[in-house]
Parts: sequence; structure tokens; C-alpha cells
Amino acid sequence: VTDRTPLIAGNWKMNLDHLQAIAFVQKLAWTLKDAGHDYRDTEVALFPPFTDLRSVQTLVAADKYDLVYGGQDLSAQDSGAYTGEISGAFLAALDAKYVIIGHSERRSYHNETDEVVAAKVKAALRHGLVPVICVGETAEDLEKHGPSAVPVGQLRVALEGVPADADIVVAYEPVWAIGSGQAATPEQAQQVAGALRALLGELLSADAAAATRILYGGSVKANNIAGFLREPDVDGALVGGASLDLAEFASIVRFKK
Ligand code: G3P
Repeated sequence: VTDRTPLIAGNWKMNLDHLQAIAFVQKLAWTLKDAGHDYRDTEVALFPPFTDLRSVQTLVAADKYDLVYGGQDLSAQDSGAYTGEISGAFLAALDAKYVIIGHSERRSYHNETDEVVAAKVKAALRHGLVPVICVGETAEDLEKHGPSAVPVGQLRVALEGVPADADIVVAYEPVWAIGSGQAATPEQAQQVAGALRALLGELLSADAAAATRILYGGSVKANNIAGFLREPDVDGALVGGASLDLAEFASIVRFKK
């Protein structure tokens, strides 16, 4: 994928075991094939739990699906005495393309700071994975600091030491919109995505700003996806709940602007 091909990503969170994952991925691939989906028009990425990844890899390789996949997190370390952690090397060995970093659930339930996120971004890049760097403000932040300050501040730290030509994806996920059924408006998403893109230009390069995909996430559904993709700085979506409903997710992938 080059430049800003739309990316629809399904973050399964802690849902679907490896057997359910196999059934889901097969059905999704068949559904998209029947619909005549061209993956060069819209890339489709899945983020299953770690324990599913080997099964997904085997299936995707055997049936030559054009779906890509990644981890929901990774360790900032490469190997060693870190019980329970998963190395980027292991994800790369399973042909993962992407890894989500700094999801708001990791930030709030696992105390991941911007500095931890930055270390994980570097770990992903060391292993040839494309980090999907999540940023977003809480309702309280929004009230106190306005729409862009917190996500822009988070991305600024996350990008410390990242080379200008690094392949990255940024996901703007307002915390108040995640799982709430209350999505941001396309205009709100655009305002923050525009500010994030300006920061990419400032910290990386004009080329990086022009080529990097910025996703919106937070209560994305089949009936609101098109509005987000019509905005000039929104290049796709990171979908949670609706990515677990096969028909709904397939419709999101097949959005029409
Ligand atoms: O990473 C995606 C996510 O946090 C959004 O979740 O359920 O609001 O689509 P949901």
C-alpha cells in the first residue's frame, strides 16, 4: 500500500477465540469476495487477540486472502524476562503487518504513558511493523483543553526519535466516543485529523504528512462511515464493536463516499 489508500481496521479487543477467529475470517473473506471487493481500493486489517494470530496467519496464507492483520499491543522490549509480554519479533514472525499502540484502553487500564507509547513505536519500527498510533482526548480533556491539544500532545511524544520516512498510521480515537454509541461528527474528526497531519509535517516532513494515513475511531458503524471518509484528512477507520458483526463490518469496508 502506498500513499493514502483507505484503511478499514477491525480491533476485536478481547473477543473471539482462535476457533471463532477462523470462522469469522473465512466468512469475512468470502463475503468481501462475493461483493467484488478490491483490496487495492480499501485495505482491510484485523486485530485479533494474540492467541488467534497463528490461526489467522495459517488461514490467510493457505487461502491467499488479501486481508492483513496485526497485534493489539506489543512489548517495548525485544526479548527477555518480561512475563506475559509479546515481542514485536514474534508478531513479525507471524507476518503481522501492523500493531496497535497506545489504545486508550491500554493507556487507562495498563497505565501506558506517552513515553511508553513512544518506546513501543520504536520497538514496532525495529521489527518492520507499521505502528497504528492511537491518540485521543477524554470528555474532560475536551472541556478543559478544546479538541486538538491532547491528541496533538500525545502524538508529539509518540513520534520522538521516529525517522521522517517511517511507515506509520495514526488513529484519532476520542475516548468519549469509544463504545459509547456517540461518534464524533465528521467535522470534529476532520478538525483533529487536520491538526495531527500538520504535526506530522512539523515533526517528520511534508512528504510524511502527505502520505500518512490518519484513521478515525469511536462508534464507527455502517451508517456513519461514509461521512468520515468524505473528510480530506480522514483516511479510514479503526472499528471496535462493529468489527465483530460480520455483515456490519463488511458494509463498513464497502463504504461509498
Ligand atoms: O479501537 C477501536 C475502538 O476503540 C473503537 O471502539 O466499539 O467504539 O468502535 P468502538
